[in-house]
Amino acid sequence: MCEYLISTPRVVASPSSEEWATLAAQTIGSSIRAAISRRGSCSLMLTGGNTAERLYNCWARSSSLPVEQMRFFFGDERCVPPAHADSNFGLVMRTLFANGEPPDGRVARMEAEDTDRDAAARRYEELLPEQINILLLGMGIDGHIASLFPHSEALCSTQRTVLPVVGPKSGHQRLSITRKVVTNAESVFLLATGEEKGKVLADALKSPQDIMALPARLALGGTWLLDDAAARQLS
Ligand code: 6PG
Repeated sequence: MCEYLISTPRVVASPSSEEWATLAAQTIGSSIRAAISRRGSCSLMLTGGNTAERLYNCWARSSSLPVEQMRFFFGDERCVPPAHADSNFGLVMRTLFANGEPPDGRVARMEAEDTDRDAAARRYEELLPEQINILLLGMGIDGHIASLFPHSEALCSTQRTVLPVVGPKSGHQRLSITRKVVTNAESVFLLATGEEKGKVLADALKSPQDIMALPARLALGGTWLLDDAAARQLS
């Protein structure tokens, strides 16, 4: 599959770390409402991590998401039960949906606790829409997004949209979307704060084609929602 990767992200930076979550919530919220006005609905794919948790808490406080016109998906999940402290689904239930999960099956959970991980991955592939309208991605300091870690075989898949993967820390088994979902998404938002991640992103800009070494390069065509400490590293 030939991909033309845009290597100039749109960078939106908050003036301080404290203001990052509010800016991210407003920026992504505007895109959600624009998608709904165009299509009548919006599919939002959520990510795990502490950075995303700040965004979810901000949305929960403001109750600003039009959840009735939305469907929610996950970009990855740890192979633990949903009530486990490490579960991304559990994180979202404790934050974004602390006041109650949207009804009518609007939230599609990855059943990553299933010991047959490939069967669970294939079931989730069947749930995914042809295209995700808005994809959220956190980034690790190794440049991973979702659970696509540097030099992972999963990065080479061109046909699958969800795969079982093993994280670099021993025993960390997960399900993850593949690059096909990332590159096919209508809008991608990369969420990153702090100087260290800013340096990783500056590196990502240098050789945009080397996805294997730095999977976050798959988000070069998206919007990077950064705080000032991260954005300063790009100049
Ligand atoms: C996960 C996430 C992962 C996360 C990054 C950033 O399951 O852990 O999907 O991709 O977004 O590791 O995490 P932090 O925001 O906590 O640095």
